[in-house]
Amino acid sequence: MPTQNLANKRIIVGISGGIAAYKAAELVRRLKQHEADVRVVMTAAAQQFITPLTLQALSGNPVHTALLNTEAEAAMGHIELARWADAMLIAPASANCIARVAQGQGDDLLTTLVLALKAPLALAPAMNQAMWLDEATHDNVQLLVRRGIALFGPAEGSQACGDTGPGRMLEADELAERLAGLFNTGSMAGLRVTITAGPTREAIDPVRFISNHSSGKMGYALAEAAVEAGALTTLISGPVALPPPPKVSMVQVRSALEMHDASIAAAARCDVFIATAAVADYRPKTVANQKIKKSGEAMVLELERNPDIITAVAKLKPAPYCVGFAAETEKVVEHARSKLQQKGLNLIFANDVANAGIGFNSEENQVTLISAEETLTLEQAPKQKLARVLINEIAKRLCH
Ligand code: CTP
Repeated sequence: MPTQNLANKRIIVGISGGIAAYKAAELVRRLKQHEADVRVVMTAAAQQFITPLTLQALSGNPVHTALLNTEAEAAMGHIELARWADAMLIAPASANCIARVAQGQGDDLLTTLVLALKAPLALAPAMNQAMWLDEATHDNVQLLVRRGIALFGPAEGSQACGDTGPGRMLEADELAERLAGLFNTGSMAGLRVTITAGPTREAIDPVRFISNHSSGKMGYALAEAAVEAGALTTLISGPVALPPPPKVSMVQVRSALEMHDASIAAAARCDVFIATAAVADYRPKTVANQKIKKSGEAMVLELERNPDIITAVAKLKPAPYCVGFAAETEKVVEHARSKLQQKGLNLIFANDVANAGIGFNSEENQVTLISAEETLTLEQAPKQKLARVLINEIAKRLCH
């Protein structure tokens, strides 16, 4: 199962008391390498084997150790933490920890979290072979498996106590792979995607600017769909009234030049670049330092061309897979196809903005997918639903 599935996933690693707790450090490191967001919860016994400081440094997050710690609860309470998680893995899960989870106890933070958790839970048992083979442990494990809790291991082999037999915790790499297997494979798992969205503002003076009516909805919906598909997503956005989508790296910009610079920086290390922004094609040649005062005369504004952002990205070597949008009012496919060629794109989605029910500022959209080889009109849909369709259409073409 590909570990790319872990990208963007929020994982709680629960550590109970046992000598294998030291291996949890390596596990947290692996999960971070696979771009998961990790929070660690330790029992009191676990802290006898490994320090919270080590896990804090490796996870990049504060470590949660106590249920009734007002300071920690204020930052992220146990219910919030349970809601936050996409999955929880207890590694190592000691015999005592397994027994407490099986009984539904909630006498410390780790077991309380398990009770509050809605996301999938997995256990990586680690204990002496005789304890693993004990009937009570066996019954507890059976009960948990029947409840749908995933069991990762244990492996057989030589043990810290000198015995040989079942009870060794699986290695970090294998645990990371098993954990990844709990998630469905997203069509963009592990890929880096950059999306531009919204309008740009071109300053005339300190209080005035030239802009357009773009709401940013399509770009934001695409960013959400990309995250859902497992992509590491960067959203470069002009000023809009939308909240930043969860799990997205936001870059807020104003002018086309700022959007251009942010795009070039992000595109140099991304796999897919999607330009939905309605970039102002022109900017005032000079920006007045002070507010311009009106006079009796007509006013003339001299404008100069802004760079074409996606054209510049498509010229990078190596260039990401470039996807543009074309808003047209006539000869939609013909104009979009010539933009595809002129801008050097892999794909362009064209929409007819003369149709009032779709496009700018509306909730629904309908687009035609155009590449060098094909023209495919997709069904009209709300922007969020369409975004998922478009992300999948892009993903399909990346594989070929
Ligand atoms: N685009 C861009 N940088 C610009 C202008 C446009 O990256 N300076 C991108 C848009 O985000 C979109 C595509 O290019 O993905 C097409 O933009 P559009 O405004 O429809 O086309 P223009 O090239 O501006 O052509 P025209 O305004 O003449 O229709």
